[in-house]
Amino acid sequence: MAYKIAVIPGDGIGKEITDSAVEVLKVADKKFGLGLEFVYHDAGGTAYDKFGTPLPQETIDACKAADGVLFGAVGGDKWDKVEPAKRPEKAILGLRKELGLYANLRPVKVADALIEYSPLKPELVRGADLVIVRELIGGIYFGEKCESEQHNGAERAWDLENYSVPEVERIAKLAFETAKLRRGKVTSVDKSNVLATSRLWRRTVTEVAKAYPEVECNNLYVDNCAMQIAVKPTQFDVIVTGNLFGDILSDEAAVVGGSIGMLPSASIGECTSLYEPIHGSAPDIAGQGIANPIGTILSAAMLLRYSLHEEKAADAIEAAVDTALAEGYRTPDLWKEGFTKVNTSEITKIISERV
Ligand code: NAI
Ligand code: MG
Repeated sequence: MAYKIAVIPGDGIGKEITDSAVEVLKVADKKFGLGLEFVYHDAGGTAYDKFGTPLPQETIDACKAADGVLFGAVGGDKWDKVEPAKRPEKAILGLRKELGLYANLRPVKVADALIEYSPLKPELVRGADLVIVRELIGGIYFGEKCESEQHNGAERAWDLENYSVPEVERIAKLAFETAKLRRGKVTSVDKSNVLATSRLWRRTVTEVAKAYPEVECNNLYVDNCAMQIAVKPTQFDVIVTGNLFGDILSDEAAVVGGSIGMLPSASIGECTSLYEPIHGSAPDIAGQGIANPIGTILSAAMLLRYSLHEEKAADAIEAAVDTALAEGYRTPDLWKEGFTKVNTSEITKIISERV
């Protein structure tokens, strides 16, 4: 039986980094006899240029038919003037909706070899290992909105936040299941001192928690959580939160990890899940062959783990990344005096050899 992986390089450095991850996957495939098959499709500005839409139907169909989706990044100044509905970034929102990608998992683990890249003091970040579970297809990003209207003689705009109990239950269950496989702690983040949606959120998470007596559950207001991530990131195991708060907190947590090029993510769907690095298309370095592919390589490892249940192959890739870093290999975004500077294809080869 073969696993079908839909690869969507997208724009900017998307092609370089997905090429790199596929190269590593092919080595793991050979070593572990996985039977991987890759199909390539367009999305983002690249798709807009070819087909007049950032998310062609055939891309959607291919993703739905795949066992997992490996996504590079989309976007770039080139498409800044395109009408809002056809901007490259619409491809991501569209895929979230089409695939029902209801949760975004962002692990932040600070590798010992990279501790000095964190803006926090080493003694604060050493041992930090958390996952942010962000609700991805509800809340204010998907609520009703008004771009402009007259109200009491002034122009105003508004966005509506709403969450239903089933939406919160689904994401809460995923968070508790994730915590069960980790250190058994869930922190639910909301703003229930002010927002009605947050009060329903907290009430629902508390209810779901009852089915997981082995998992410790606590609540934090989002503003306090933002502080706590910077003050003591090691206190967290799994953080679960809504779409807007999760967007912001996951970027904050990412910076604790040191380099934006290093971090993977998984967007969990009802059937197919999608894996992508957390960074964007980095137009400033696109085409130079110097992008750090590690976030995408680790995303590919998450695909093996969560969608294909090929744990050993996933472990091998993650260990290979750690080894390459411990041996002192660095792409330019991480390079400092005393380390070996390598480009995208060199680091890919080094990681592949260690798999
Ligand atoms: P970005 O993440 O693309 O770049 C921010 C900075 O980090 C740049 O200096 C870039 O060179 C550097 N960087 C990012 N990834 C890197 C890597 N793998 N290796 C080395 N350096 C790396 O964010 P920015 O500049 O805000 O956005 C650029 C475009 O990407 C925009 O069009 C934006 O909308 C889009 N974007 C797409 C996302 C996606 O496809 N999921 C996510 C975030 C942004
Ligand atoms: Mg963000």
